[in-house]
Amino acid sequence: MAFPLDRPRRLRESAVLRDLLRETRVDPEDLIYPIFIVPGKDVKRPIGSLAGQFHLSPDRAAELARGFRDEGGRALILFGIPDSKDEAGSSGADPGGPVQLAIRAIKDAAPELMVATDVCLCEYTSHGHCGVLSPEGRVLNDPTLELLAAQAVSHAEAGADMVAPSDMMDGRVQAVRKALDGSGFERIPIMSYSVKYASAFYGPFREAAQSAPKAGDRKGYQMDPGNIREASLEAELDLAEGADIIMVKPAGPYLDVLREIRLLTRRPLAAYQVSGEFAMLRAAGDAGLLDYRAAALESLLGIRRAGADLILTYLAPEFLRWRG
Ligand code: PBG
Repeated sequence: MAFPLDRPRRLRESAVLRDLLRETRVDPEDLIYPIFIVPGKDVKRPIGSLAGQFHLSPDRAAELARGFRDEGGRALILFGIPDSKDEAGSSGADPGGPVQLAIRAIKDAAPELMVATDVCLCEYTSHGHCGVLSPEGRVLNDPTLELLAAQAVSHAEAGADMVAPSDMMDGRVQAVRKALDGSGFERIPIMSYSVKYASAFYGPFREAAQSAPKAGDRKGYQMDPGNIREASLEAELDLAEGADIIMVKPAGPYLDVLREIRLLTRRPLAAYQVSGEFAMLRAAGDAGLLDYRAAALESLLGIRRAGADLILTYLAPEFLRWRG
């Protein structure tokens, strides 16, 4: 027989064998759906920069949550857009804030859903940075920690199942852990945005969350896209501080980083397929350049194959419908 003797194609020609041998799958329980909460009642406004996504008041978020649950969805992560912003982002810890109200409403409407919350100052500060500023405009690390911790505790008090600090301040996992434990929330896990790059792919989100910095950029706290050793360092520090789940963000352009962290820890690993990744798929699909559904599913599969246990993705509701 002609060389080669081995023929991997033997295993590819039957659909049953292909299914039996598939190494990686994406299931509804792997996905966390990010939603945007605004104050008020009966608000459901399409977000221009994110096709198919909405600004939702707490009551409409509860309605969406019920539908998502009915279709097989398992988990949400909430982002808040407050009425009032100040230098210290203090509205982030307001028990009557949009996220806090939405947590309660969602838990009433669909108690089976896991409700995680994003913990950060950028949506709540007038200047749009993820921490408080010095008079010269530097982002101050340690004074920011208390504010993040207070926000995390207010989410837990409202009934959140998990908190996810996304600010990239040093020491915030420990600060949030201590504050949660001190308020009786030892059982609430922390999913840390441990490895978060200063990425251009957050563009559509910043429009959706009205959280773009008014001056400067986030390079003083988010990571340099050229670095991967630093990714391991950030993950190790967060693990040492008590992070329960480590996240890499963005996902698609950083699959090597996901793999690296997968090999570094036995803790669960999450990846955030961010707004720009989603928007690119949508735009290419809408332009007829590719099969949106097939490309979207392949993007999720790639993220899982690289090592992610969980994926935060705007595709979650469509994924449920596609699977039928
Ligand atoms: C808040 C935060 C951001 C995202 C999640 N949490 C924006 C940022 O860091 O500027 C981005 C999510 C996305 O693009 O979908 N710090």
